[in-house]
Amino acid sequence: MGKSLVIIAHPALSKSRINAAWADSLRNEPRVTLHDIHACARDGSFDIAAEQKLVEAHDRIVFQFPLYWYSCPPLLSTWLMEVWQRGWAYGPGGRALRLKTFGIAISTGSNGDDYRPDGRYHHNLEEITTPFELLARHTGMHYLPLFSLTGVREVTDAALARSAAAYRAHVLSADPAIIASGADDNRARTVYPGDPGAHIASG
Ligand SMILES: Cc1cc2nc3c(=O)[nH]c(=O)nc-3n(C[C@H](O)[C@H](O)[C@H](O)COP(=O)(O)O)c2cc1C
Repeated sequence: MGKSLVIIAHPALSKSRINAAWADSLRNEPRVTLHDIHACARDGSFDIAAEQKLVEAHDRIVFQFPLYWYSCPPLLSTWLMEVWQRGWAYGPGGRALRLKTFGIAISTGSNGDDYRPDGRYHHNLEEITTPFELLARHTGMHYLPLFSLTGVREVTDAALARSAAAYRAHVLSADPAIIASGADDNRARTVYPGDPGAHIASG
């Protein structure tokens, strides 16, 4: 089994119920690194080289966060903007993430029924989180099925314990739902002029 990196993006993990329980389920796993980005940011910024080294050292990467305004907490966007750089994550020479496995785990205040085509929001959670699937596709990573817990205010302690156990199994061993292409083609990554295979994109 490879090593997993769980990027925790919660602005107040000490006040969290769901994300804290998920993180606790993995705390003693030797092959899992828990990385709380709100704890390690300095003035809202990151040590880019250190963050990239951490990602490079793991085979599976999971972003774990509470859904905020149908998206991730803003510091995770900052982390992405700073760490997943051109020439590292994508573009010429950008191979750091290729063929790793990537996924997200989200908790939501609204109920599961709200996140259905015939529900309040008219879209399911897979659709709402499509940008994360596209991160995987753009950087050539396998993409895990979505892991989620909805309606968190009504979740009993027993249901949370079951979710935490399922989360642990998911992070350690879930199979990807989307397999990245190992070939250097423009389905697995963006092809830039001058790259091997650039003629495919430019015609
Ligand atoms: C600023 C903010 C925005 C939120 N936006 C959403 C949302 O768009 N959809 C939703 O279902 N829940 C939303 N929630 C509820 C959180 O997702 C919920 O409180 C969180 O998943 C609980 O996890 P925790 O116990 O780890 O904090 C929001 C909460 C806050 C504070």
